[in-house]
Amino acid sequence: MKKTFHIIVLIIALCINSKMIYASQTVSQHILTLHYPPDKTVMEYGLLGISMSMPRDSADLIIVMVNNERKAGIAVSGMFACFTVPIEIGVNKIEVTAEKKGRLADTVSLMVFRRSELIGEHKDPPPGFNRNYFHAEKHPECSACHRLEPGKYDKTPAEIDPSADNSSENAEPVSSSSCYSCHRKMTSYPFVHNPAAAWKCLGCHDPEAKPVYSVDKPDTKMCFQCHSRQKEIWDKKKYFHGPFIVGKCVICHNPHASENTYELVRPLWLLCISCHSDKGSGRHIIGGYVNKKDHPTHGVPDPFNKGAELSCASCHAAHASDSPKLWAFEAENVFDLCRKCHAK
Ligand code: HEC
Ligand code: HEC
Ligand code: HEC
Ligand code: HEC
Ligand code: HEC
Ligand code: HEC
Ligand code: HEC
Ligand code: HEC
Repeated sequence: MKKTFHIIVLIIALCINSKMIYASQTVSQHILTLHYPPDKTVMEYGLLGISMSMPRDSADLIIVMVNNERKAGIAVSGMFACFTVPIEIGVNKIEVTAEKKGRLADTVSLMVFRRSELIGEHKDPPPGFNRNYFHAEKHPECSACHRLEPGKYDKTPAEIDPSADNSSENAEPVSSSSCYSCHRKMTSYPFVHNPAAAWKCLGCHDPEAKPVYSVDKPDTKMCFQCHSRQKEIWDKKKYFHGPFIVGKCVICHNPHASENTYELVRPLWLLCISCHSDKGSGRHIIGGYVNKKDHPTHGVPDPFNKGAELSCASCHAAHASDSPKLWAFEAENVFDLCRKCHAK
């Protein structure tokens, strides 16, 4: 009993002691200079670039924690360290820690807010948070190792014409894009939008725009440059979906890449119920009238679409339709719709 007590006291003493060493070191000198991002920055998507410098030999390991989870750690040899870390929707706490021979050398923490147009409470940044445009300034501190001006490769517009010669002999390697060296993680998702996959970033980001690389609004101006074939089809329809008619394509599609098919910002069913929350309960169409059950809207195979799961888009068009209620298959009436899947 007594022995255990002594051990506990000893452990507590050691903890306090080591904490004091840590504390005194942190206060005495700051070795990390964070170049990007500034505190309280607002981001749109899930990746954050971080870059910092430090005096030579002042640190041998840098660790980046995002919301208390380790997201990156690299051994440093020079005077610069660059990372890309994933961030979540809402406020993220970023902590950068420098170590030298296993002991804390410095720590810097900051907040970054990731916006989401789909989630009410995360539509607007909290007070004090601002969008910072990295490329609005020249950044000579980066150009020793990176090319910041768009190169010849970046100036070639993305090719939509499927008959165009995209053979590998003529294709330049993506690493020819000057954007690649810093934004390389952007395409590391299962579903990548064609112009992003080809690193034709200037297909949407205008180097002449102010602020530089900002995109045209509404999104249709940007998207229909290349998707003129879809525009032609949709223009002829009678009924249009709410967010589509106001030209908000990127409310549903990530323009770069995502975890979901068609680069949707969330899995299809969750995407639809983000705005139509009443349909998430299952109360839809037959509303419990048949065998006291509701019609499924997900979780079963789609009989019409082999290999796919039934979803809201099995019965509704996401963009435009000739049917009221935006029915799929251009169904003329509700029975016509039911018959597509329930033949008998
Ligand atoms: C001393 C050279 C050097 C300087 C200066 C430098 N970088 Fe880097 N940076 C690199 C190298 C090398 C890589 C590639 C790292 C790798 O291959 O893992 C890189 C990669 C990156 C990445 C991508 C990291 C990743 O893993 O996805 C970002 C973002 C980045 N740099 C931003 C910057 C910014 C912003 C500046 C200026 C503030 C800057 N860098 C200055 C050398 C440098
Ligand atoms: C030296 C590294 C570096 C290079 C090279 C680079 N970027 Fe960036 N860029 C960044 C960083 C850091 C940010 C801040 C956002 C982030 O964390 O990704 C950024 C932000 C952006 C943004 C958001 C608007 C802004 O100004 O913050 C766009 C758009 C963008 N870059 C496009 C490009 C394009 C297109 C190219 C190639 C022509 C390119 N970048 C080359 C580092 C770089
Ligand atoms: C299909 C159009 C399109 C293409 C192609 C495209 N982007 Fe973007 N990008 C956008 C839109 C839209 C935004 C959001 C702009 C906003 O609202 O501020 C954006 C934002 C960004 C941001 C800011 C991210 C953030 O979280 O705030 C970066 C960085 C960026 N793009 C880099 C790139 C790079 C690098 C490429 C090439 C691989 C590229 N983009 C290709 C449309 C595009
Ligand atoms: C620079 C040309 C270009 C621009 C601008 C562009 N796209 Fe695309 N997009 C393509 C190409 C090329 C494909 C692949 C061929 C196809 O499916 O037509 C594609 C495919 C797609 C796909 C299908 C992806 C898949 O997995 O099948 C979606 C969704 C899409 N684009 C949405 C958008 C949205 C939203 C915008 C505007 C933010 C946009 N595109 C702007 C060139 C472009
Ligand atoms: C409400 C969400 C939503 C909005 C808004 C939206 N899309 Fe889509 N989009 C989808 C879904 C879901 C799919 C997947 C297949 C389907 O149901 O058409 C898709 C598929 C696509 C495709 C590939 C299939 C095809 O029809 O060629 C393209 C290209 C596309 N969208 C472009 C756009 C453009 C451009 C805009 C803006 C004018 C836009 N989308 C607005 C949800 C949306
Ligand atoms: C960004 C919000 C948003 C998202 C995401 C969204 N919708 Fe909508 N939807 C609307 C708005 C706004 C309307 C028009 C107002 C209304 O009728 O409630 C609408 C209307 C509809 C209608 C009714 C049309 C009519 O004429 O009554 C259907 C059906 C529909 N959406 C299906 C979908 C499907 C399927 C998805 C997923 C692919 C989806 N919605 C995703 C906002 C959204
Ligand atoms: C099996 C086919 C089917 C599926 C799956 C389906 N719907 Fe519907 N939806 C319909 C039919 C049929 C109507 C017309 C019902 C009516 O007029 O009473 C409708 C009407 C709607 C309407 C407009 C009228 C209203 O009730 O507000 C919206 C919005 C809507 N659906 C959204 C969705 C969303 C979101 C999902 C996915 C969670 C979904 N639907 C899944 C068949 C379907
Ligand atoms: C896109 C295909 C599709 C359309 C369109 C469709 N259904 Fe279904 N329906 C399904 C699937 C899939 C199931 C689930 C079958 C299973 O569980 O094996 C189902 C199940 C049902 C059930 C049985 C419910 C239960 O679980 O006991 C009824 C009743 C039904 N549908 C009626 C309708 C009616 C009425 C319409 C037209 C408003 C309709 N369906 C339109 C695909 C569809």
